[in-house]
Amino acid sequence: MSQSSKIVFSGIQPTGKLHLGRYFGAVENWKKLQTEYDCIYCIVDYHAMTMPYDPVKLRENVWNLAIDLIACGIETKNLFIQSMVPEHTELCWILNCMCSYGELSRMTQFKDKTQQLKEKDKDDFVSSALFVYPVLQAADILIYKTNYVPVGKDQEQHLELSRNIATRFNKVCGKEYFPLPECLFTETPKVMSTADPLRKMSASAGDKHFIDVFAPVDNIRKQIRSAVTDTGETKSGEMSPGVANLYALLAACNSPRYAELNSLYTSGTLQYSQLKDAVADAIIDLVTPLQKRKTELLADKKAIKDEIKQSAAHIRERARKTVNEVRQLTGIA
Ligand code: TRP
Repeated sequence: MSQSSKIVFSGIQPTGKLHLGRYFGAVENWKKLQTEYDCIYCIVDYHAMTMPYDPVKLRENVWNLAIDLIACGIETKNLFIQSMVPEHTELCWILNCMCSYGELSRMTQFKDKTQQLKEKDKDDFVSSALFVYPVLQAADILIYKTNYVPVGKDQEQHLELSRNIATRFNKVCGKEYFPLPECLFTETPKVMSTADPLRKMSASAGDKHFIDVFAPVDNIRKQIRSAVTDTGETKSGEMSPGVANLYALLAACNSPRYAELNSLYTSGTLQYSQLKDAVADAIIDLVTPLQKRKTELLADKKAIKDEIKQSAAHIRERARKTVNEVRQLTGIA
């Protein structure tokens, strides 16, 4: 941590594999922020329970993600699992009293997820936890008196709600208690599915639509080799989405060959196989040290679990302090 004592907080859902879209879109940025801010990163298992889920898989996903994040360079002391700090849910209840039904009804993520459930599930069970999901998110953020929240644009509405809740809390208590958290939108590389370059790389769309950071490197090479290039629908003179995505991956990996391959494209002498080989090499260079680190971590799984529990205990101290103050301010106990 350097000059700044500003607090950064973010949360990540323990769903699916850690793929390159999540790596470039969030994790790499989280890693960089650690050198400048007081960072707290949380695996939000309580949030993952708001949609239908499998308890055995949940636990597995949580620990896998924790190890993956550490292998990617997130410092263990900055990482914890939400349910290890039950003060989040206590604060959530109090904040529920400061958030209106109307506000929550306007959340687009709630509407989208409700729609998804209707399409998928015969009995379309929508939990009330899904409805108050953004209040738990506000509690996650406010409990550490967070200044900045690195998130994607899709979370902007939730952040605005967190600010409204904080403002209402401050008003009720007659004190500027919670700082108003702001989104930190950092330019991050956007990568698309190599099987369908018109859709975002995502785990929910199926195996061929994402590249797992921890997949065997031969599989990664195969996946890049079979990437869609020309779809036949591109106007002449325009780079097709598939080729553009391969260049985006090359740039995201900081490949030293980017300029050279780009000039081959401009001069019309590029062979796609050359580009694909370069992209596969660049990704493999990027993931190899992360994979090595993961193997080392897995060699003593108990040690790493203990370390995370320890960091959660430290972080819990900070949360407890806030909740004690909040109890005072709100007339509880
Ligand atoms: N809702 C966030 C997402 O879906 C995850 C999240 C939970 C979060 N709590 C948070 C993000 C607090 C930032 C801050 O990505």
